[in-house]
Amino acid sequence: MTPQDDVSLLAERLRAASRVTVITGAGVSAASGIPTFRGAGGLWNSFRPEQLATAEAFARNPRLVWEWYAWRRGLVARAKPNRAHEVIAAWSARFERFTLVTQNVDGLHERAGTRGVVRFHGSLWELACWDRCGGAPDGWTDESDLGEVPPRCPHCGGLARPGVVWFGEAIPAAALAAASAALDCDVCLAIGTSAVVHPAAGLVAGAGGRGAFTAEINPEATPATSSVDLAIPGRAEEVLDRLEVLLCPAGS
Ligand code: APR
Repeated sequence: MTPQDDVSLLAERLRAASRVTVITGAGVSAASGIPTFRGAGGLWNSFRPEQLATAEAFARNPRLVWEWYAWRRGLVARAKPNRAHEVIAAWSARFERFTLVTQNVDGLHERAGTRGVVRFHGSLWELACWDRCGGAPDGWTDESDLGEVPPRCPHCGGLARPGVVWFGEAIPAAALAAASAALDCDVCLAIGTSAVVHPAAGLVAGAGGRGAFTAEINPEATPATSSVDLAIPGRAEEVLDRLEVLLCPAGS
């Protein structure tokens, strides 16, 4: 079957679906110029996660960790949502029950207007008190350029930390519950994720286990490729655009 047939097959499934769950990773933001983590040009090729993305690393050197997050915030602030973000945003308004479970902390899905976003790994634009002073238990939004780093907690004056989920940390309970509920769906689509970081990597198989039709869109094979019902080897911005043309022919 040619790739085109695979796209038509997926479009058919989506046309018949009312409950759709999409799981995204860094590959969806690649076309916006945001580096992925793994693979060619991935962040973890030039930076060491244990130096930058763990609570231990932050305790050791909060300035280094903040300089890295400030750099990533700068990159994202200059970026724009791409066609993949746009199509997913359109779906979030069209399907009866739509959930986006994203591992991405860049906020580009939200900037594209996507509804029903579950931020599974937090957000670059959220901060929290490192000492958990209780002044702002759920953290706060800060989209400024931060100026002097490390930033401070506005309530206790102590260190503020990035509102992202670091390696070794648990997924926030509300996000985990929302993602789990979203696995009861007709179609579950994993897009632009290497499917190596758990628990996110297990979600699409979880949906399959509950009877959903599962699919993956990724130019490269991943550990999930052999277990989904349909794997489409392609770039998110191109495959989603073709899907949208099939789902919504011009003027319909
Ligand atoms: N379209 C679709 N997929 C793409 C594209 C594209 N244009 N470009 C690259 N990819 C794919 C790559 O083939 C790779 O499989 O996107 C995937 C990106 O994988 P990772 O860099 O590992 O990103 P992700 O899966 O989101 O990482 C999971 O790991 O580092 C932590 O917390 C971080 O949320 C992140 C988690």
